[in-house]
Amino acid sequence: MVPLNIGMIGYGFMGRAHSNAYRQVPTFFPGLRYRPVLKAICGRDAERARAFADLWGYETVETDWRRMVERPDVDVIDIGTPNSTHAEIAIAAARAGKWVLCEKPLAMNRAEAEAMVEAVEAAGVPNMVWFNYRRVPAVSLAHQLVREGRVGRPYHYRATYLQDWTMNAELPQGGQTLWRLEAAVAGSGVVGDLLSHSIDTAMWLNGPIVAVTAVTETFVRQRRHQQTGEIEPVTVDDTVMMLARFANGSLGTFESSRYARGRKNFNTLELNGADGSLRFDLEDPQYLEFFEYRDPSGRKGEDHLAGWRRIHVSAHEHPYMNRWWVPGTTIGYEHSFTNALADFLEGVEKGKPAQPDFRTALETQKVCDAVLASAASGRWQETGVELPER
Ligand SMILES: NC(=O)c1ccc[n+]([C@@H]2O[C@H](COP(=O)([O-])OP(=O)(O)OC[C@H]3O[C@@H](n4cnc5c(N)ncnc54)[C@H](O)[C@@H]3O)[C@@H](O)[C@H]2O)c1
Repeated sequence: MVPLNIGMIGYGFMGRAHSNAYRQVPTFFPGLRYRPVLKAICGRDAERARAFADLWGYETVETDWRRMVERPDVDVIDIGTPNSTHAEIAIAAARAGKWVLCEKPLAMNRAEAEAMVEAVEAAGVPNMVWFNYRRVPAVSLAHQLVREGRVGRPYHYRATYLQDWTMNAELPQGGQTLWRLEAAVAGSGVVGDLLSHSIDTAMWLNGPIVAVTAVTETFVRQRRHQQTGEIEPVTVDDTVMMLARFANGSLGTFESSRYARGRKNFNTLELNGADGSLRFDLEDPQYLEFFEYRDPSGRKGEDHLAGWRRIHVSAHEHPYMNRWWVPGTTIGYEHSFTNALADFLEGVEKGKPAQPDFRTALETQKVCDAVLASAASGRWQETGVELPER
């Protein structure tokens, strides 16, 4: 196996999720050529970075990402920092010849994302964006069923991504822990944070979104800023509702919110086609629901046995599941990152880049920008999405 020295930037939520994936991938995907080595962790607080390194097994610590990017003993730069930092780090990393993995949303906006695509493509370095929900086995199975033509001509795509953690009006904004509530750092609110996931999955399953109209709302308009201590305007969207036209003629509805009481990470999708429907809910991630418009003999049409199937996606025939435990046992959230990493490494090895790479994630960014533009103008907005067949 070829050692691949990882330089992880950010030791927060995603720093943990990615570090876990680097540790798990060689043992659960043993055929891969590249073996990640936890070479360096970067965070601005040296003490906390050192504690993280000790806990997860990183060999060294950096407190400035620029030094990390310059290190000759680092092969991969993995960006697990807030959104406003993605472009600068990714472009510098690509120019230094590093492979670049980046968290979603790829960038603050389309212009930044385009510059990032240009940088990785000019450098010719492998790259991927961590839209990990594609790698939940039930979502991958949904993709497989669509490709097999089981759904037929699509009519409707329906996605929600709902949470409730910002409903408390006393919750402050900004700073180390609440950067998601500050547009200068996050780019947007739920549009970049939640809707981007739904868009990535939707375009993977159902093709390009060509036009959108959207409405956003900020329910709590002022919050105390954690750094300044002042009451300041809230600059991010708390909720978004979007209607979408897909290139294949189907229509989509999308809803993302942090004000859906009781919803913690309610990331759902449903696709309705002429020959079948698919439904997935991340809060019940082992299952894919499938309705097939066929009678048991295979003829199209329904009979008295027609109904929704609730498929427990845990058999060795299901995507990724032969890598984990025995049929009927389950895997969890963290495995979606390990599965993604394995696909990335295999893609480099075989010369067939894993998706979504930066160029594909740029298309999601275009939709996010169109959503914000539509919410501001009140009009339908073309997205300009160009997704090549892959
Ligand atoms: N794929 C997913 O499902 C998913 C889930 C959560 C977050 N994310 C994305 O991951 C990224 C990070 O989110 P998070 O939840 O891990 O945030 P977090 O706040 O938990 O962690 C961010 C880390 O970045 C560090 N950091 C900030 N600025 C830095 C800088 N200039 N140099 C070095 N380190 C810096 C912080 O100290 C912290 O360790 C965001 O882009 C977010 O959208 C993706």
